[in-house]
Amino acid sequence: MGKIVVAIDGYSGCGKSSTAKAVAKDLGFTYIDSGAMYRAATLHFLNNYLSASNPQDVAKGLETLDISFHLNPDTGIQETYLNGLNVEDEIRSMPVSQKVSEVATVKEIRKELVAQQKRLGKKKGVVMDGRDIGSVVFPDAELKVFMTADLETRSMRRQQELFEKGELVELEDIKNNLAERDRIDSSRAESPLIKVPDAVEIDTSNLTFERQVAQIVQLAKDVI
Ligand code: C5P
Repeated sequence: MGKIVVAIDGYSGCGKSSTAKAVAKDLGFTYIDSGAMYRAATLHFLNNYLSASNPQDVAKGLETLDISFHLNPDTGIQETYLNGLNVEDEIRSMPVSQKVSEVATVKEIRKELVAQQKRLGKKKGVVMDGRDIGSVVFPDAELKVFMTADLETRSMRRQQELFEKGELVELEDIKNNLAERDRIDSSRAESPLIKVPDAVEIDTSNLTFERQVAQIVQLAKDVI
């Protein structure tokens, strides 16, 4: 089977990561979570009391930032490491979620992470999800998908996800966070979240997880 790049973009919390992971598994491709990289960068800034709006702090933060992915042999899942430490769970916490979109507006930070994402996908055979994958990271991706779902559905799914990890968060807080991130992500000057004309839009509000995965796998097989 040939190798292609599958780019999946869309709003916060519409199941891009879990879908992309399952699509990659089905196709035998590598899954890369670009959002995890922005989250890890955010955690790094928070841990070191660095401000993303201060150019000196940004330079300092980038100098000492090392993000990598390592396969967990027990789960078969690529986990995120920040400067050698596994931060897979920590980067999904609310304090990081509340800061990440602000950090992701910074041009220098995006430049660094996009370069790493391009390197990770150079050999193809990857499924990458994010906000600018089809528009900026892989504008030549063979398959581009734009995922959406209504805010209520997305918030309930995210609440369940956090609950399963032991974090109890009010639905209203999640809804506000998702809406605010969508607003910042779609209106920023640097690589805003957009649906590129050649992306296939999939609204997952009324789709089962299995159905949305199957749809994307089929689209990928059609172009392989
Ligand atoms: O995908 P996830 O929700 O984990 O992404 C967290 C945040 O990282 C997004 O809300 C967005 O601000 C930023 N992001 C981005 N570009 C990407 C992936 C994520 O700006 N390619």
